[in-house]
Amino acid sequence: MIVMIPFEVYNKVIMTTFQINDTDLREISHSETLLINEAQDKLHDSNHRIYKFGFGQSPFSPPEMAIKSLKQHASEHDYLPVAGHKACREAVAKAHSGYRECISSDDVVIAPGSKMIIYAVMACYKNATVFLPQPSWVSYAPQAKLLNHNVQLIPTNFDAEWKISPETLENVSQNIETNSPLILVLNYPGNPTGMTYTSDELKHIADVARKYNILIISDEIYAWLNHDNQHVSIAQFYPEGTFITTGLSKWCGAGGWRFGTGIFPLNASKEFKITYNGIASETYSTTAAPVQFAARDIYNNMDQLLPFIDAQRKILKGLSQLIVNELKEANVKIHAPNGGFYIFPDFSNYKTKLLNKGIDTAEKLCVELLNKKGVAMLPASAFGFDETHFYSRMCYVDFNGTLAISEYQNGAELNHEFFETHAPSVLGGIRALCDYLTAL
Ligand SMILES: Cc1ncc(COP(=O)(O)O)c(C=O)c1O
Repeated sequence: MIVMIPFEVYNKVIMTTFQINDTDLREISHSETLLINEAQDKLHDSNHRIYKFGFGQSPFSPPEMAIKSLKQHASEHDYLPVAGHKACREAVAKAHSGYRECISSDDVVIAPGSKMIIYAVMACYKNATVFLPQPSWVSYAPQAKLLNHNVQLIPTNFDAEWKISPETLENVSQNIETNSPLILVLNYPGNPTGMTYTSDELKHIADVARKYNILIISDEIYAWLNHDNQHVSIAQFYPEGTFITTGLSKWCGAGGWRFGTGIFPLNASKEFKITYNGIASETYSTTAAPVQFAARDIYNNMDQLLPFIDAQRKILKGLSQLIVNELKEANVKIHAPNGGFYIFPDFSNYKTKLLNKGIDTAEKLCVELLNKKGVAMLPASAFGFDETHFYSRMCYVDFNGTLAISEYQNGAELNHEFFETHAPSVLGGIRALCDYLTAL
């Protein structure tokens, strides 16, 4: 016989027997990029005009052939191997064969997003020191901290295009007091800066990494959105110490499909692979089967997708040039991005005027711009800077990329008028920001 316990009684028992003590919980907050997205949406719902520069999601949808393949494989429901479906790993190895010598399917892992892979690689170490350029993508430091690794920021600055140098890497490496293993996370083209490294720069960084036996997690998720199709992987110069991560989220417009892939260093030890796959099997298990089958088809048909990728590059480059020019005219310090869809403006030329208005942090500047002009962007404090640095990250993605590609492929020229028609929110938001600054 089943005895029904009245809800009030059940609730009382539950409430009195289970409690979480806040001090027992880890200190981790919701990712700042997701938070700004929620703030944007709330204001938007209340009918405010919002210019969305906060969240870095691709403005392009996946190509037709990718969607067709995903639909075709919707009935695939079995768990696939932890490291990933063999045919999918083979396709990834083939599509990335230019990244470094001898990539085989045994070097490849598949996961639900490259974010998960970065975390799992860091988790392979019991205790490591993780070097992060300052600024870096928002999730690296929280991931390292969750794993109790020691985080060491490597300073950069506007004049260095926000890039680390061999000297700064040498400097932090020789000053490490523990003999814990060293990891460097390098992301290029970069989020939040849009900047990338030249072959020469990568080669010299690789020399230092080799000297100090540093594992480089090379986050190349924006590689194929290098605006000039000039991407080079540091694995070319440091194959034995580079773990590459990438996936479908950015160049294929499929962030929500959750497909990431990683490539182990050349001749990675069996133990490293076993450890990684052990972590994968005890956490995410495997990646959704239909997505892996679609990814296999996508990576096996890269020739067919080159025009789609090329159109994205040209559209992103053309739009970024316009917004960078407008910001420069408004006396904002800014570099033209090399790839991806981010810029990292420096508002320090307005510092005195902002301080006079009581705006003494980048965060306050972001709140002011959101409230006064509807411009949503992320302050530099989300990227490891102290709050007095007047930098922010802006994503120029609030436009219908699919329509823009179709018009471009039907012969439209990527001129000023094209972007006024197809990216009015991006250009409008930049103008609203410039209006605010020049009126100070
Ligand atoms: C620099 C960087 N790395 C990794 C990721 C994670 O991508 P994925 O969707 O593959 O987890 C992102 C996503 O925003 C990113 O910007």
